[in-house]
Amino acid sequence: MSSLFTPTAAGAIHLPNRIVMAPMTRSRAVQNAAPNALVEEYYAQRASAGLILTEGVATSDNGLGYARTPSIHTPEQIEAWSRVVNAVHAKGGRIAVQLMHVGRIAHPANKAAEARTVAPSAIAAKGAMWTDAQGMQPMPTPEALSTAEVRAVVDEFAQAARNAKAAGFDGIELHSANGYLPNQFLSPNSNQRTDEYGGSPENRIRFVLEVIDAMTAAWEPGRIGIRLSPAGTFNDINDPDANITYPLLATELAKRNLAWVHIVKPNTPNFTEWAAIRANFPGTLIVNLGLTKETGEKLIDSKEADLVSYGSLYISNPDLPERFQSNAPLAAPDPATFYTPGPEGYTTYPALT
Ligand SMILES: Cc1cc2nc3c(=O)[nH]c(=O)nc-3n(C[C@H](O)[C@H](O)[C@H](O)COP(=O)(O)O)c2cc1C
Repeated sequence: MSSLFTPTAAGAIHLPNRIVMAPMTRSRAVQNAAPNALVEEYYAQRASAGLILTEGVATSDNGLGYARTPSIHTPEQIEAWSRVVNAVHAKGGRIAVQLMHVGRIAHPANKAAEARTVAPSAIAAKGAMWTDAQGMQPMPTPEALSTAEVRAVVDEFAQAARNAKAAGFDGIELHSANGYLPNQFLSPNSNQRTDEYGGSPENRIRFVLEVIDAMTAAWEPGRIGIRLSPAGTFNDINDPDANITYPLLATELAKRNLAWVHIVKPNTPNFTEWAAIRANFPGTLIVNLGLTKETGEKLIDSKEADLVSYGSLYISNPDLPERFQSNAPLAAPDPATFYTPGPEGYTTYPALT
């Protein structure tokens, strides 16, 4: 039998297989940043995954930056997420919410009127983003958070962890990858602070560790994981010290008995941070990017990963584990409908009967 189908656990969560649905923003939350019935159907269709990781879900209005993306801080949003969780549980699945704060990767046209765009430092990210009202727009220069405001953002994550628990999720993944707020703290090009959150690697990892500590106190470590993209450059991130930052962070995370670390590996041949994280973090490791059934299996067999996650393949193959198991053909995803509203390209990919 393929090693992808050996049962295991990630912290307190029992998994019947090692296939994880990677977190993917799909921009179908059309009202009040809450998921709707279409979102319930989409995740329920994918319930045979070992673990579903939701799209990035904002902890506050300031933390939301893309069009039609969801949050989990109002009673309406928490209630709506509990319906998504129930739909997945009813089909025997497991689902963890990816908690996200976009920081400087935002545009005011996508945000509530009173929301602010905040980041470690007042440095704009190079690049543009989609807004429904104004099309593509350059990302503005964010406001630098004061030291007291940094602590308030940590508190927002703790509250979101309580909200996730109340909604019935099986766990939480902190989105500390791909250039969003936690990653902006980790990286010296976006974090030029002079207080205890900036400068040395010890200071740059402080925000992430405070968020992890606040979330594990709000729930329990066996329910909390983290996603990292060491050496990643997406969303204008550049950390020339990644070979110091990430092993140090992994060592600190190892002390906290987290449920998992989820690595997005860069497309570079000499990616030494991965081995260093594996060496320094004894817990469950999920690995992502560009995997097939065969390359995923290889990572499990060689013990370079405990779980493997699939992104774009999960868009077009709701029954991905069943297809892997029976060597069935895979459907190709259509990028034109990745972020468009409505069911087309979202809930319309059929399972094999
Ligand atoms: C449409 C789309 C939306 C995504 N949104 C997120 C997200 O919200 N959070 C995140 O951590 N990664 C996000 N990603 C990255 C995926 O989780 C994954 O890392 C990426 O697709 C590479 O894996 P793959 O080669 O299996 O597709 C997104 C990817 C896609 C294609």
